[in-house]
Amino acid sequence: QQGQDFDYEVVAQQGSTEFFEGVQTATYGYNGDLLGPTLKLEQGERTEVKITNALDEPTTFHWHGLEVPGDIDGGPHGEIQPGESRIITLEADQPEATLWYHPHVHGNTAQQVFKGLSGMLLIDEAGTDSGLPDEYGVDDIPLIFQDRLFDENQQLNYGRLMDNDGTLGDISMINGTLDPKLTVAKPVMRFRILNGSNARNYTFRLSNGGDFTQVASDGGLLDEPVETDSLTLAASERAEIVIDFSEFNGQDIAIVNEEGVELLPFEVALDDSPADSMDMQAAGEPFLSEQEQEMPVTKKIELFGMMEMVTINGKKFDMDRIDLRQEQGVTEVWEVTNEPDMMGGMIHPFHIHGTQFKIISRDGKPPEAHEQGFKDTVLVEPDETVKLLVTFPEKGVFVYHCHILEHEDNGMMGQIEVY
Ligand code: C2O
Ligand code: CU
Ligand code: CU
Repeated sequence: QQGQDFDYEVVAQQGSTEFFEGVQTATYGYNGDLLGPTLKLEQGERTEVKITNALDEPTTFHWHGLEVPGDIDGGPHGEIQPGESRIITLEADQPEATLWYHPHVHGNTAQQVFKGLSGMLLIDEAGTDSGLPDEYGVDDIPLIFQDRLFDENQQLNYGRLMDNDGTLGDISMINGTLDPKLTVAKPVMRFRILNGSNARNYTFRLSNGGDFTQVASDGGLLDEPVETDSLTLAASERAEIVIDFSEFNGQDIAIVNEEGVELLPFEVALDDSPADSMDMQAAGEPFLSEQEQEMPVTKKIELFGMMEMVTINGKKFDMDRIDLRQEQGVTEVWEVTNEPDMMGGMIHPFHIHGTQFKIISRDGKPPEAHEQGFKDTVLVEPDETVKLLVTFPEKGVFVYHCHILEHEDNGMMGQIEVY
């Protein structure tokens, strides 16, 4: 921090990456050629961040999941022109969580993310110890899952024009690496998983069918940890899981996808450090109070369409139109419906800026245990209706949208003014 008036500098820049031996692929990154550094915010502290656009096109710096005022949220209004910089203050006044950052320039988000602009943003809760593994890079590992498509020259093949429902790649990339593997030395490992794909949904499992524990959702720790053998994440959703490798020593196991394809093989070579016992405390109160469950719906959102025909409440995004208003600090119930079309419709991951919400119900049923935690993105199936309990702690104009980035770019987005 010597002589600088900021804690972090984040520069969006062009570069190139050697995914394939001897071939340079043009990519974008923050402070480097691909992806960005993991930023850590201490809860309750002010962090000065200098953001610089060294690209030759406009971009924005959006802090996905962070409850900050609208003017520094980095949504479509937050454009930074090529060559420009700005210093902003991020203040994390929310629980420990795995968030992320990415561009949000209107009409061009999908392409910039596809080329490599994303990074993790972690909030550290000062003075509390969740009992979870927390040695970053040792037993606390971030995993950014993204699918990618390359052309015959091994360049990134961004296919928006071909696929308006989102570019799907046939190659999976984890933390920017095409053939990753991880050597595991500690018996109990925590993974912070981000589905950073433009459009793809993932269901992760262990190749041996084993169980693991989900401990957090998008916005922080779950009400209670959940023992499970699978984890589904739509684009932009996060989860933290803990895997106990002590039963798998010397075994070949991997994280696989819904088709059983190996995404991340582990080499389990445990050192003799004792397995710390995780004793996570279950919350004393129910996740949703009776009063919260019974609040009337005051905002309705209808997601509709596919390809370029996508809308929210029948409209496409207009930068100059405010669609909804909500008072700062006042909780409202949003009812979000995924209206099927003649083709049946498709999953839309619905995301709201500036808030961490609770899911009250899915088609009238209370959320399952793995969704009893704060969320900023909710996967909505065709014909499904979810109710959300939404509070905005800060003022400003925020967007809400489908996080299939091509749907967002095609206008499946609205604006709310928090006053
Ligand atoms: Cu991941 Cu509008 O954001
Ligand atoms: Cu966001
Ligand atoms: Cu969508």
